[in-house]
Amino acid sequence: MSNPKVAVIGTGYVGSVTASCLALLGHQVCGFDSDATRADQLAAGQLPFYEPGLAELLRETLASGNLRFTDDPRQALEDVDVVFLCVGTPTGAGGNPDLAQLASAAWTLAPYLRDGTVVVNKSTVPVGSADWVRTLLEEALPRNAAPAFHVVSNPEFLREGSAIEDFLYPDRIVLGGDGDGVGPVAALYVPIVTQAFPRARTEVVPQLITTDLASAEMIKYAANAFLAMKISFANEVANLCELVGADARQVLPAIGADRRIGTAFLSAGVGWGGSCFGKDVTALIATGHDYGYSPDLLRASIEVNKLQRAVVIRKLQRELKILKGRRVAILGLSFKPGTDDLRDAPAIDVAHRLIAAGAVVSAYDPIVKQLPPDLAGVRIASDPYDAAHRANAVVLITEWPEFTGLEPARLAGAMSGDLLLDGRNVLPDAEFRAAGLRVLGVGW
Ligand SMILES: NC(=O)c1ccc[n+]([C@@H]2O[C@H](COP(=O)([O-])OP(=O)(O)OC[C@H]3O[C@@H](n4cnc5c(N)ncnc54)[C@H](O)[C@@H]3O)[C@@H](O)[C@H]2O)c1
Repeated sequence: MSNPKVAVIGTGYVGSVTASCLALLGHQVCGFDSDATRADQLAAGQLPFYEPGLAELLRETLASGNLRFTDDPRQALEDVDVVFLCVGTPTGAGGNPDLAQLASAAWTLAPYLRDGTVVVNKSTVPVGSADWVRTLLEEALPRNAAPAFHVVSNPEFLREGSAIEDFLYPDRIVLGGDGDGVGPVAALYVPIVTQAFPRARTEVVPQLITTDLASAEMIKYAANAFLAMKISFANEVANLCELVGADARQVLPAIGADRRIGTAFLSAGVGWGGSCFGKDVTALIATGHDYGYSPDLLRASIEVNKLQRAVVIRKLQRELKILKGRRVAILGLSFKPGTDDLRDAPAIDVAHRLIAAGAVVSAYDPIVKQLPPDLAGVRIASDPYDAAHRANAVVLITEWPEFTGLEPARLAGAMSGDLLLDGRNVLPDAEFRAAGLRVLGVGW
């Protein structure tokens, strides 16, 4: 297939990154979204969300002529060779993902299938979904049509906040399916696997891993479940450290120094969040239940995470005694630095709990300037010191790099109280103590 025509269905976080990066590699890509406003915005070079470097890459690839966006399926899908499905798969009934967006994408795509078309599942979908998509597509075809199309699973491992880096310089690319389907998709990724494109990095050696369909689907869930479990493990160790008088800031890096373990995702804090971990671990648990298996380790990862979010409230209650009428400032709202995504963000959970307890809440985030309507009572501050104005306590929830540069005396001067709770163990606690604050963290 020389110069294949590529389409991306669903241009949210994953779809817009996939489309822009594939266009950067030199491929002809058209992004299709059923949300016309989103398609128009992207076509105009505007991002509907924040992702470092993506707006620039979007404009660059649009200008190169390699990338287009549309809400017209014909424009995107006529004569297409490879179609990436990047629609959302939110949690549905019983913990299983709701595959309605995927079903609707399949129905849109079916009339355009030809011999050799490759349909690539990039959305995170339970084991068996590729076969399910194939059946949906076959059912949606006219009775006399039987194109020999292929379905491939290509799970996406990018992280919001470093999505372009993760896409262009991955540890591995996983392709599941039969050889005839995998081949054309692998060809699209050759510039990444061989690091041969304008911004390539010589030190990066991505692995191309080919598997059967079910294994590719399982790899994505199991990888996310492992990362979530590793963070929950770090938090469990941190909680034990607090009980016995050890310091998780010393303990965890020393555990991670063992190359078999590694330090990544081994820090204590207020727990994980975002659109993927909770959804994917829940989905894997539901898969286990479907087969009469009880995945206890996965369930514990979620339970520990739930408890960890409550740690902030427990510590504030212990120190302030009564939360009703107390002013509490939250630093960082997004579920992690580098994104404006509030899906399952620990800060949102903490803000809800504080408000339910009668506290007066202010918040500052470098990017997020608006909260959901049910948190309309939270005052959005213009900077961290404004958030801390007259606060009894300041709680750091999201470790944006700029918070490590906070001026201790200025923060202490803005507050009426003296409690600083570092929910991510990133602040130089001695400096804040020297400014007269009582500093608490997680795991010490
Ligand atoms: N966000 C992440 O960090 C991330 C990372 C890896 C994998 N994933 C997985 O990738 C998938 C997509 O996630 P996301 O965060 O990009 O979702 P998203 O909600 O940001 O984007 C989904 C997009 O699909 C569009 N859409 C829905 N139905 C459609 C249809 N029938 N036709 C055309 N467009 C349609 C929506 O309008 C939306 O723009 C999910 O399965 C998710 O689990 C996400």
